[in-house]
Amino acid sequence: MRTRSVVTTESDSRTALTRVLVVDDLEGNRQLIRRLLPASEFFVDATGDPEEALAIAVSAPPDVILMDIRMPQRNGFDLCRQLKGSETTRLIPIILVTANRQSQDRLRAIEAGADEFIAKPLNPVELRARLRALSRVKRYTDELDNAEQVIVSLALTIEARDEYTDGHCQRLARYATAMGEALHMSDAELRALQRGGYLHDVGKIAIPDAILTKPGPLTPSEMEVMKSHPVVGERLCGQLRTLAAVRPIVRHHHERRDGSGYPDGLGGDEIPLLAEIIGLVDVFDALTSARPYRAALSLEATAQALREEVARGWRRREFVELLLDLAYRSGWCSGADATIADTT
Ligand SMILES: [Fe+2]
Repeated sequence: MRTRSVVTTESDSRTALTRVLVVDDLEGNRQLIRRLLPASEFFVDATGDPEEALAIAVSAPPDVILMDIRMPQRNGFDLCRQLKGSETTRLIPIILVTANRQSQDRLRAIEAGADEFIAKPLNPVELRARLRALSRVKRYTDELDNAEQVIVSLALTIEARDEYTDGHCQRLARYATAMGEALHMSDAELRALQRGGYLHDVGKIAIPDAILTKPGPLTPSEMEVMKSHPVVGERLCGQLRTLAAVRPIVRHHHERRDGSGYPDGLGGDEIPLLAEIIGLVDVFDALTSARPYRAALSLEATAQALREEVARGWRRREFVELLLDLAYRSGWCSGADATIADTT
């Protein structure tokens, strides 16, 4: 059922073309759209099978998806909703095509997350103009995504400077999103927790190795340098709009509920909720991981240490108990030898 347009250019040159995935059960419609989109500007992939469209969107993401609403196996609204609900395909712009201009269809298209809605008969000039506009949006978001990837790579590079923090970012992202899911947080909040897990310590790029990897307690002046990392990190993320929800996490993940944390000494509910979660799982992972000066703590010893922090007024009791419950049930404990209860 799937057919590709005949493109005689080399695959490398396709990167300059706008890649369009056409999803329509009628071969005649697919051919018509191909005729409307010149091969000099568009690379058209076409399928009549909604399941295949999903597979293509993941394996070879197009710049824009042009999708018919009425299809026998599955309607376009459902398919659009699924693509927009998936982390890997949600940024691909989607145009829904319908046989009429009924406002009910328009409303359903918006609810399904479609970026545009056009009615048949297709106006070739309008179709090409909309595809161009949406592909520009897609390339812009791709660039932002790439910029974010650079910052994530930077964060992982910082992690690699210290052999004792290997895998720390991945674990934090996993623990924090599990807590967010248990707290029924929104998809946007879960994404922020995931990114926050990776980026919370990105400001450590400014901390010299002699301090960052020092095998033992820091002096007061070294501690002051170390405490600058949330502010530096926030500044690094500051230029990217896609990281707006992550900035408060980066800045405030070392605050404590009694106001004794840093950099701003926020107390209680002044601390952004997502930063509080990342701050908690950060401490949990530090306790359950080996350090140059001590072995990893057991879950029991970790639970005791975190409950002491609750008693001191540093942490929210419900969050600590939720985290411990998840940790016991999921077997979270990174340390290879998690038996020695040594908090020094
Ligand atoms: Fe930190």
